[in-house]
Amino acid sequence: MKKVLMVCLGNICRSPVANGLLRDKINTQGLDAEVDSAGTSAYHTGEKPDPRSTANAAQHGIDITDLRARQFTAHDFDDFDLIYAMDGSNYQNILAMARDEADRQKVDMILNLSEPGGNRPVPDPYFGNGDEGFERVFQMLDAACEVLADRLKSDGV
Ligand code: 4NP
Repeated sequence: MKKVLMVCLGNICRSPVANGLLRDKINTQGLDAEVDSAGTSAYHTGEKPDPRSTANAAQHGIDITDLRARQFTAHDFDDFDLIYAMDGSNYQNILAMARDEADRQKVDMILNLSEPGGNRPVPDPYFGNGDEGFERVFQMLDAACEVLADRLKSDGV
């Protein structure tokens, strides 16, 4: 059983969508894995996902209404095998909390799944211009989660 954590800044826009997407693939493909999400900040702790993320995910048949924001802690290094950051800032903030090399090895930028070595960020749609940002984020995360699901299937993670 692999445990995966998706991490962004607020845990209300990008990482809940990644959480919902991978959860759907785990369920429909019967994968031996679990997924959760967190934010590096506590800005939105306890809140539901942003309504724009919820609506966009629902258009694709993904329900994220049950998710609630929480802050990433160093304890998550003990609970999770794979930790995916949405952007470089999240990545650096997570690494800064790593206690040893084993912790550091668990962390990567999520789009490196679909574009190895690209270190490309999932753009933050929170302050962005409308729904197109959320749809773009969804498509990027779907591609990355599809690669991850394939790896979890063959246990090549
Ligand atoms: P997220 O987006 O990191 O994808 O959840 C954001 C949500 C809230 C804020 C920033 C980004 N904020 O500054 O409140």
